[in-house]
Amino acid sequence: MREKLSLLKFALRSPGTALKIAKAAYEARGAALVKLVEVLEPEVSKPWYSWTDDEFAHYVYSVLVWEKVAKWRDDGSLRLVRRTKPPRIRLPEVADLLPAVTRLIEKRLIDALEGRRKYFTDKEQLLLYARFLDNLGYNWARRGALSLLLPRDLRRREDAVIADVGAGTGLSTLALLELTRATVIAVDPLEENLEFVKDYAGMKRLAHRVRVLKGYAEDFKLEKPADTAVMINVLNWCNSPQPAIRNVAANVKPGGRLAILQAVRDEKSVWVGIIPSYLLGSPRLPPTRSELYQMIKEEGLKVEKSYSLPWELVLAKVPAQGA
Ligand SMILES: C[S@@+](CC[C@H](N)C(=O)[O-])C[C@H]1O[C@@H](n2cnc3c(N)ncnc32)[C@H](O)[C@@H]1O
Repeated sequence: MREKLSLLKFALRSPGTALKIAKAAYEARGAALVKLVEVLEPEVSKPWYSWTDDEFAHYVYSVLVWEKVAKWRDDGSLRLVRRTKPPRIRLPEVADLLPAVTRLIEKRLIDALEGRRKYFTDKEQLLLYARFLDNLGYNWARRGALSLLLPRDLRRREDAVIADVGAGTGLSTLALLELTRATVIAVDPLEENLEFVKDYAGMKRLAHRVRVLKGYAEDFKLEKPADTAVMINVLNWCNSPQPAIRNVAANVKPGGRLAILQAVRDEKSVWVGIIPSYLLGSPRLPPTRSELYQMIKEEGLKVEKSYSLPWELVLAKVPAQGA
């Protein structure tokens, strides 16, 4: 069943927080845009397809057009049409996060367009990334989305096992621990991330319900299949997203669920926030909405619930044996 839920209705679940997040998003978006224009101004006379990473270049240019600071020229280059003013930063949460975002754009954008991207090669990158994942909007959206998607009976069961695939620094694991009574297995290819997961769970006195497994979505194997697997913004981090969905589903019991929360990319959601995540090292841009559903369908999973918020939220059922 495809349920309609507008961003407004989602926001009305906790209006005070939603309002604060809307203000934070406005401030952060404005500041990121100013930095983007500053870095790109000397470069936009180049057509998007002449950059080495032309897909990313097209995305970045589209953001500037979408934000009405530039117009397309016929040859695929841009003409800047408006100067953006830096917004006044009032929220401490934004003031705290912003240097990480603007530093990324300043240091990594041109390199990325020229096809030179780093994947966690240094500690600074890893810490920036940890900072980036732990922001007001992301934390709120993660929790809100999980509480919408996860079936109530699963959340109540103490014997349930949930795999958090692509657990990152453990904020999704923590959300799962707090929203359910289940044991959560955090799967991530980076040892450093799994250390973060253990630290967070320890700080919250929830370590007894956590296990960690180093591995890739494409080929990890649990000792026993989980009741549910969760993937939050992981598909753009996988070198092979289709085999990743296949393998994650194979690690879920027949009749169990796969919950996917995924930023998607299409004309309706050209969003400046996708740029920092790509600069942090994800091997690909997020899938389009239709690519996402195509991948889910191809693995024979049945979509039970889905919402477009503009993150795509999907709860899919793994076929029962013999089905
Ligand atoms: C955007 S983060 C999401 C983290 C977490 N789920 C959250 O909500 O905070 C994506 C994570 O996927 C991990 N990752 C990268 N390649 C992966 C792969 N092939 N399989 C599983 N995880 C992967 C990265 O280490 C990164 O921590």
